[in-house]
Amino acid sequence: MITKETVERAAGVLKDRLFKKPRIGIVLGSGLSGLAELLDNASAIPTSDLPHYPPSTVKGHEGVFLNGQIAGVDVLLLKGRIHAYEGLELSQVVLPIRLMALCGVETLILTNAAGGLNAVFNPGEVMLIEDHLNLHHASPLCGPNVDDWGPRFPDMSEVYSKKLRSEAEKVAQETGFLLRAGVYASCPGPQYETPAEIRMLAGLGADAVGMSTVPEAIVARHMGLDVLGFSLISNLAAGISPTPLDHNEVVQAGLAAGPRLVAYLTALLSRI
Ligand code: HPA
Repeated sequence: MITKETVERAAGVLKDRLFKKPRIGIVLGSGLSGLAELLDNASAIPTSDLPHYPPSTVKGHEGVFLNGQIAGVDVLLLKGRIHAYEGLELSQVVLPIRLMALCGVETLILTNAAGGLNAVFNPGEVMLIEDHLNLHHASPLCGPNVDDWGPRFPDMSEVYSKKLRSEAEKVAQETGFLLRAGVYASCPGPQYETPAEIRMLAGLGADAVGMSTVPEAIVARHMGLDVLGFSLISNLAAGISPTPLDHNEVVQAGLAAGPRLVAYLTALLSRI
């Protein structure tokens, strides 16, 4: 059970292990681990060292917080996010975001791999998240509200900061980085969608679909963080793709496109 006391205890342990107070938090999605290699003066804190942190269910993908500087900016990276399909409550899925906020993070960058629905998107391209659809049929904010963290009924009319998005677009233009934009729909997974579900999502206004990010963005806004989100389009969505979806291909596509996104994010970091 996640409570104010358990979260604050875990945050206290994390804070004590930080090298320097971070201003920007980054959740690394599939294919983005290259960003971690750019860290200067890094300290690594395995999530298994933090009390009440859910144990990783995927071997070889244990979570780790990395604290240091990229392009002179103090950052806290999370490698190995928690997904709802691991059987966890959404309040557990968003624990790393609460911890980042309690450690001083003011701006959060969420990244993920996603299937593309928008007809102009190609695998390997990156989409700036303009807005989202929460299709988890639940909220990470269900349960008693901790008023010290945020309001009971937080506004969600601008989850992804307009100001930061505008800067992200500007940096993309200046560096010649093709940045698509659109709506990200988050489904619980772990199965990929059916073609009928993809047609439904397209009708609802989704441009990309994945299984993460939205619960994290909701909690980040609850705690008053500014949020930016990027989806690496690793595949065309079910029914649009001419071939069945395969997790290994999704991972490989992420790895192939990752370095370009890493280079772009590095350029963006010093501007936000
Ligand atoms: N659907 C859901 N999640 C995903 C996909 C997809 O097509 N690709 C990568 N993550």
